[in-house]
Amino acid sequence: MNAGIIGIGKYVPKKVLTNVDLEKVLDTSDEWIRTRTGIEARHIAAEDEETSDLAYEAAKNALEHAGMTADQIGLIIVATVTQDQNFPSVACQIQERLGAKQAGAMDISAACSGFIYATVVAKQFVESNSYEHVLIVGVEKLSKVVDWEDRNTAILFGDGASAAVISKVSEGRGILSFELGADGTGGKHLLIDQQNNIQMNGREVFKFAVRQMGESAINVLEKAGLTKEDVDFLVPHQANIRIMEAARERLGLPEDKMSKTIHKYGNTSAASIGISLVDDLQAGYIKDDDVVVLIGFGGGLTWGAIALKWGK
Ligand code: COA
Repeated sequence: MNAGIIGIGKYVPKKVLTNVDLEKVLDTSDEWIRTRTGIEARHIAAEDEETSDLAYEAAKNALEHAGMTADQIGLIIVATVTQDQNFPSVACQIQERLGAKQAGAMDISAACSGFIYATVVAKQFVESNSYEHVLIVGVEKLSKVVDWEDRNTAILFGDGASAAVISKVSEGRGILSFELGADGTGGKHLLIDQQNNIQMNGREVFKFAVRQMGESAINVLEKAGLTKEDVDFLVPHQANIRIMEAARERLGLPEDKMSKTIHKYGNTSAASIGISLVDDLQAGYIKDDDVVVLIGFGGGLTWGAIALKWGK
């Protein structure tokens, strides 16, 4: 039996920063941001609200959605590049707060591909019968590494968290195939520098993302013995609406078959795919037995994709 997602949760901070708010402090416009990126607003954590606080809230929601208690979790994997400190890890911080007394805990670093990487790592532990239930979290407080004077990047990112419980699901459902990839030669195009600021070559990242998202989606479908026609719903990393649309067109999917939450949250990096899944489920866009393709890309450079059949 395959591992799959049996519960999912999200958390975004209360404060909303709109494009119109940004117009007042940066040489930019609501119109430029909307047409070039699809973003209208993003949520920003309070100063005393740390990455681990966001992670904890999302994890609690995922456990509740799965109908589980924290002591049933065997391992916690947190994907983040904005941890509170180098160590203890965010995973250890939430292990304590959740009361997950049986769980091992570790953080992993795969930037915006973090949700996919964490899910795939969890799948290995579940399918090898090492752990029955693994809790994964994708979380970022990117507002603390954004240079708020740099219009190239300040408009793009938002804070947020998502979490999922990965466990065995019924026959035929769950993760059917996956792909993880990396190209360290492109690391220079997207990074957090020594001053703790995000630096990005937008055009290079854009080209890479358009190419890689499409290819990875096709690859995981082939690995699962599926074709483009089998796809019911696409959940791409929410980085730029134009990148997402290119992936959708590559799969030949109609507009309403792709997740679109970027206008509300901006790019929440490791959290974005999980946040989208929560909203899409609530909206009824994803139903049991739907073939769903998740695709992510990000700093590293990294990328990853998963084809799964939804449902417990
Ligand atoms: N507001 C107004 N104008 C802006 C601007 C902003 N926030 N940012 C850039 N511009 C200007 C540029 O200075 C440039 O002006 P010029 O023509 O006078 O030189 C013009 O807009 C076009 O800039 P360009 O960089 O070519 O825009 P673009 O269409 O490539 O869009 C990004 C820029 C960053 C939105 C786009 O490249 C992108 O999304 N890249 C991928 C980034 C990403 O996904 N990162 C996260 C990965 S996980």
